[in-house]
Amino acid sequence: MVFKVYKSREELAEQFAHFFSELVNGQESTYVALSGGSTPGIVFEVLARDYQKSIYWDRVYFFWGDERCVPPDDEQSNYKMARTALLDKVPVPERNIFRIRGEDQPEEEARQYADTIASHIPLQQDLPCFDLIFLGMGDDGHTASIFPQQMELWDSDAICEVAEHPETGQQRITITGRVINNAKKVVFLVTGKAKAEKLREILREDDSPDRYPAALVGPSSGDVIWYVDREAVSGLLDRESL
Ligand code: 6PG
Repeated sequence: MVFKVYKSREELAEQFAHFFSELVNGQESTYVALSGGSTPGIVFEVLARDYQKSIYWDRVYFFWGDERCVPPDDEQSNYKMARTALLDKVPVPERNIFRIRGEDQPEEEARQYADTIASHIPLQQDLPCFDLIFLGMGDDGHTASIFPQQMELWDSDAICEVAEHPETGQQRITITGRVINNAKKVVFLVTGKAKAEKLREILREDDSPDRYPAALVGPSSGDVIWYVDREAVSGLLDRESL
């Protein structure tokens, strides 16, 4: 587990964008699963602003780790967020973009998208192996769209599951823990004071894997990189150094 702590979201986004450009330009193809959330959104904006011409965008294949069950033009859509902030601003071929169809029947789309992933993403140990999975972390310790109230989804044998937001009841499609932990690299993008207490619990309390999906992220590759700002780790720095 690697921690990269930055003084601001902008600095975090710029440093991550550089990491992303090096990863993509250094290999023939990069299979990515995007997440929603405010911090990923800033990263998309920096990539569109600074890397329009300096990344081989035709080498990147965009998937999503989770999506809200809403139409693609809905303000809550993770696809719409990525499309607006990044995909409409860089020369990535449309054939490289594989969105989750949030407008379709959730259980059916979970099956369909699992098939899409399985037929496009290289397999490792008989499971899809993304090169890079973006993850955010909710204030409640959820990640992707696996919430603490539905921890059983993490261990599902399926590639995708239908989840439900515990407060709004909104249905979501999410990849499951086996896929997340089969990735070559997983990057957490977490910023803001609101995350500090949960992040401290997740990293410091032994029983956090029993309570929070974000605490279960541990790819067999060992490559989890936390891109965080100082506010998000203030709960750690107050008590002990990172
Ligand atoms: C979603 C995201 C979700 C998000 C976290 C963190 O669809 O909402 O995939 O997992 O990453 O809720 O979001 P913030 O970074 O905005 O707090």
